[in-house]
Amino acid sequence: MKTRITELFEIEHPILQGGMHFVGFAELASAVSNAGGLGIITGLTLGTPEKLAKEIARCREMTDKPFGVNLTFLPSLTPPDYPGLVKAIVDGGVKIVETAGRNPEQVLPALKAAGVKVIHKCTSVRHSLKAQSIGCDAVSVDGFECGGHPGEDDVPNFILLPRAAEELKIPFVASGGMADGRSLVAALAFGADGMNMGTRFIATKEAPVHQRVKEALVAATELDTRLVMRPLRNTERVMRNPAVDRLLEKEKALGAKLQFSDIIEEVAGVYPRIMLEGDMDAGAWSCGMVAGLIHDVPTCKELIDRIMAEAEQLIHQRLAGLCRA
Ligand SMILES: Cc1cc2nc3c(=O)[nH]c(=O)nc-3n(C[C@H](O)[C@H](O)[C@H](O)COP(=O)(O)O)c2cc1C
Repeated sequence: MKTRITELFEIEHPILQGGMHFVGFAELASAVSNAGGLGIITGLTLGTPEKLAKEIARCREMTDKPFGVNLTFLPSLTPPDYPGLVKAIVDGGVKIVETAGRNPEQVLPALKAAGVKVIHKCTSVRHSLKAQSIGCDAVSVDGFECGGHPGEDDVPNFILLPRAAEELKIPFVASGGMADGRSLVAALAFGADGMNMGTRFIATKEAPVHQRVKEALVAATELDTRLVMRPLRNTERVMRNPAVDRLLEKEKALGAKLQFSDIIEEVAGVYPRIMLEGDMDAGAWSCGMVAGLIHDVPTCKELIDRIMAEAEQLIHQRLAGLCRA
């Protein structure tokens, strides 16, 4: 399949793997890229430019296909060394960066000068247009269903994607709730040029996370996520567990008085314990409603091949058949 996204990133299939904290290591990124999609290493998980440079080198040993690096901009008291991380990306010969969170303007000049293509992930039409206006090459439009931070507007992809298509000139991918061939065909029908998946890629053989995380995703339904940190305007969609229930109780009890320090135990530093050690109740971890569509743990190649076969079958047979009828 050829779309503006496969052309832009020089990949075989219009399927991206979004950056994921303590999931998007070289093992997953290379497996997605080797399967014809675009794998993405999560820059901030590595933390320092030196560690990111090593991870990029490790990924390059595992694939000769294009892969990207995610740079997430979060409010932080001790901001990461973004210029150093950008230098590691450029020196490592990476040609694609997924930015997310705040406006990525500060890193664009250095990335553009090095010929790096930038896809900015955002959750609204207005932020997508801003990304287009500052020179991003593409946008990943993340709907309310998504795992992680859906923003504060709560617009699901049935509305958000066609709205983005109405306004944007640059290519965009649909993100949030994407799982299979049906998702891809729907995304294309809405005007997107491909799709980005987060949660679905965690339940793959190559994702370097504890087996219990994959089992939790297979066991979960579409009813098992919760939104946390809304009172802090830092909403995150996470898998429900006892820590999340505790967190929500605190949010209810404290109301507008809630401060980050009140919930630090449930959210700070929990990712390595969950993703690497499989301590599933350690705290809140991002997970999309799409968990309800995850029923197995295939390899990335099996997953991507299956998505492409299902999408083509849907387009050529079911949809074309309906038109002929
Ligand atoms: C466990 C997990 C961690 C994530 N970490 C990040 C991150 O560090 N930076 C980022 O830009 N997006 C992050 N995301 C969001 C994904 O890149 C992607 O946008 C989202 O998962 C898409 O929705 P889906 O889960 O419904 O596919 C994370 C998502 C998950 C599930």
